[in-house]
Amino acid sequence: MNTTSLANKYRPTNFDELVGQKFAVKSIKGMLESGNIAATTLLSGPSSSGKTSLARLIARFAVCKEDNAPCEECTSCKLMLRMLHGKGKHPDVAEIDAASSRGIDMIRSLKGESRFKPSRGKFRIFILDEAHQVTAQAFQAALKLFEEPSSKSRFILCTTNPEKIANTILGRCQHFKLRHVTLEDCVELLARVSKAEKFRKRGVKTSLLRKIAEAVQGRPRDALMLLEQVMNYALVSEYKGKLSKLLPKVLEQSASYASHIAVQKYLTGILSGRYELSLLAVQKGLYDDEQVGPFIALTISTLQQILYTWIGPETLPDRNKVGLLHNITFPDGQKNVQKIQDLAKVLDIFLAAQERIKSYLTTPRGILDVSTVQAIAVTSQWKPKKKKVRKGD
Ligand SMILES: Nc1ncnc2c1ncn2[C@@H]1O[C@H](COP(=O)(O)OP(=O)(O)OP(=O)(O)O)[C@@H](O)[C@H]1O
Ligand SMILES: [Mg+2]
Ligand SMILES: [Zn+2]
Repeated sequence: MNTTSLANKYRPTNFDELVGQKFAVKSIKGMLESGNIAATTLLSGPSSSGKTSLARLIARFAVCKEDNAPCEECTSCKLMLRMLHGKGKHPDVAEIDAASSRGIDMIRSLKGESRFKPSRGKFRIFILDEAHQVTAQAFQAALKLFEEPSSKSRFILCTTNPEKIANTILGRCQHFKLRHVTLEDCVELLARVSKAEKFRKRGVKTSLLRKIAEAVQGRPRDALMLLEQVMNYALVSEYKGKLSKLLPKVLEQSASYASHIAVQKYLTGILSGRYELSLLAVQKGLYDDEQVGPFIALTISTLQQILYTWIGPETLPDRNKVGLLHNITFPDGQKNVQKIQDLAKVLDIFLAAQERIKSYLTTPRGILDVSTVQAIAVTSQWKPKKKKVRKGD
């Protein structure tokens, strides 16, 4: 049985396989071609845009003795290639998850570890994932380490939130910014994997890949996972019809996408002024308080997209997110100043809710319920007024 997930199996092994990050890749290649790696590199970018993959690609270069590495032949290169796919470790590459080990002890052990020479290649590499979670005190203790590590050690910090990293640290890093992968790039990745997995023969069409990319707003890891789920589902259900018909079923069953569908239904209710629809969506889609935060966050980005479409599609800052609007029924408010202003009010209600949840003043679910009522108080104005029927008519 093949137990490796598609996302792990197809983790980029070279720069060409990393889609949508041409600019960062070009600069990083430039750095590596000079034969050196910055003392501390910072890779920032949205979730699942390829930060960890890129960090491991830099490590691939570091662990080979050859200057024009990786040679792909030496033991070190082979070990690293296995590590890239999540199989085993490399003695000269450490991955530290700053979400779980974030304090001064971690920095102390980094200091100790980084004194040793690499066992095989040019450098030892320390990848610090979720770097924004490192405490301020620990970062303070790491200033010197990051600026002047021992000559054979290099640090790579990865983060989705570079704004949470102090300027004193930022100033000591070579910063490469990764971008949102576009829908086209995501489809390209899915197409390459489908070809390699011979999914085409099993009926996978480009239109399905496009729908998958839209459903996950172009996030490569989620896209590969979703493709995998559809293909697995097709096997167990011995589905004979069109695979694209399976997609909505898979989406509804899978917990991480369930909230996406719940938000679509919720907003359809909000924007048509129908409490029962919205509350039902919340009841069905949210199982615990933990989910309320992400639910509101998705509601906010979706509302923003509607706002932009109403103001004028040319204002859409992120074409990737147009997929958010699928399956939502909302009235036409294009160029309608009143509706645009009302929608901004609704948006404001959810932005405030997000802040209130953070301050733990009351239960998240209570906040969501109140926001639902407040939002509908605004949108119910849009309902066409029923004509009064006068007696005697
Ligand atoms: N730009 C990309 N090109 C090709 N595949 C990608 C890309 N980004 C992500 N992937 C796929 O998604 C998986 C996860 O990517 P990776 O771990 O590098 O993302 P990340 O930015 O570190 O995410 P997170 O913020 O969740 O840590 C990889 O195994 C790979 O299959
Ligand atoms: Mg990562
Ligand atoms: Zn090598």
